[in-house]
Amino acid sequence: MEFHISLVGGGRLSGEIYEQLRGAIRDGRLRPGERLPPSRQLARRLSVSRTTVTYAYERLLGEGYVVARVGAGTFVSEHISTPPARTGRRRAESPLRPRGFWGSVPEFSSAFARLAQFDFRSGIPDGSLFPQRAWRRAVAEQLRSSSAADGVYGDPAGHPGLREAIARHVGASRGVTASADNLTITNGTQQALDIVARALLAPGDRIAVENPGYKPARVLFESLGARVAGVAVDAAGLAVDAIPRQTRLVYVTPSHQYPLGLSMSLRRRVELLDWAERHLAAIVEDDYDGEFRFGGRPLDALHTIDTGGRVIYVGSFSKTMLPSLRLGFVVTPPSLTKAVRAARCLTDWHTTLPLQAAMAEFIKSGEFARHIRKMRAVYQARHELITETLTRDFADHLETIPSIVGLHVSAFARLRTSEELHAVVRQASAMNVAVQELATFFEGPARPGLVFGYGAIPIPQIAEGMRRLRSCFEGARASGDRRTRAVS
Ligand SMILES: Cc1ncc(COP(=O)(O)O)c(C=O)c1O
Repeated sequence: MEFHISLVGGGRLSGEIYEQLRGAIRDGRLRPGERLPPSRQLARRLSVSRTTVTYAYERLLGEGYVVARVGAGTFVSEHISTPPARTGRRRAESPLRPRGFWGSVPEFSSAFARLAQFDFRSGIPDGSLFPQRAWRRAVAEQLRSSSAADGVYGDPAGHPGLREAIARHVGASRGVTASADNLTITNGTQQALDIVARALLAPGDRIAVENPGYKPARVLFESLGARVAGVAVDAAGLAVDAIPRQTRLVYVTPSHQYPLGLSMSLRRRVELLDWAERHLAAIVEDDYDGEFRFGGRPLDALHTIDTGGRVIYVGSFSKTMLPSLRLGFVVTPPSLTKAVRAARCLTDWHTTLPLQAAMAEFIKSGEFARHIRKMRAVYQARHELITETLTRDFADHLETIPSIVGLHVSAFARLRTSEELHAVVRQASAMNVAVQELATFFEGPARPGLVFGYGAIPIPQIAEGMRRLRSCFEGARASGDRRTRAVS
């Protein structure tokens, strides 16, 4: 590392060099064992004579801050005990403050917290079954190829081969008509929503989202200055007749409502499309885990039945591959594509090119389809075990919401109060069982319930985790009964 020294000049230059290096060693910016720059090199960089630097080094040597190893150079002594590294000088507290909005933004830390022993968190795929070797091969191949290293930026629309491969894939697997020309690669769903909203909306425009719904989307729209309205969800999906007037965009998860898990009925899909047509609005269809369907006839995507060009289809590789890859895509009507790509370009230009090329190869070679087939069977077994256990062992406590898609299933609680459910979840957490409350996905009054993600929890852990959770419900019921008896 090139260590920064600023010479004010005028005084004893070697003294300044000595003091700055000593200060850096003392406060940990230069760590034990780290090599100081060769004296000749540092002298050239600072435009001083080599003797000036050598003199400073000799003082540090004499005081034991550094050691010289013949033929290797000068190193910070291993015996110096330093405080943890600090970056920069101590400054007065900064007067800079974020816009008030950011004070109310939740942290979303559950998305990156470490896995609990029995982890039912939703939205996490099973990384342990990811085909590491095949993926590493695909990435290494692309890093070796010259196109990744030719020194120019890539196309903000994304790697052409990947766009074509995805267009074919969603055409075959989801019935979504897309071509490389109207498909843009993004860093996951989150960025797709960001650039679509930037391209379509002005600050103050109204967006409707599902309530309960996916918080990162809601908060993102708010951060862009939109007025966001939560719209209730019933057994058929988003309550179309409750969408507020003058809404410009509706964000929905029709194939697997997040977090309730139900699928939007065909009738409701048609109603929503009619509504958008009448109100000149756009619909963003987030198809985040529809690849994993365990039975039943899949309903057509909104994008497939849309004849008016009002649906923007968003897909993600966060469940089918890994969330950390940050790969997703958006299919736009031709009238929007240019603006969406310009917004993409302004945001961060493009997704890492070798990664996109590797993903294209992964799809073309059939590895991706193979991985999805394998994971579908794995997730189906977990889904069945959870739904069976809920029906058999939790009937007194929870009412399962029917769902045959994706990586989570939800259930409404039959407990008397939401405080009782908080207590169950707290108790479960103390027993290393992580499970989310439905309430965290609601704006305003919530219907108490739980979400069971099974992406990251293997079968044996599911059985034990559910057993522990049941004991928490039994405990809550016993103490509730005691309280009722005491009152009566
Ligand atoms: C509703 C919904 N959409 C999208 C995603 C994935 O987002 P991204 O592609 O940004 O990782 C998730 C992840 O849990 C989700 O729950």
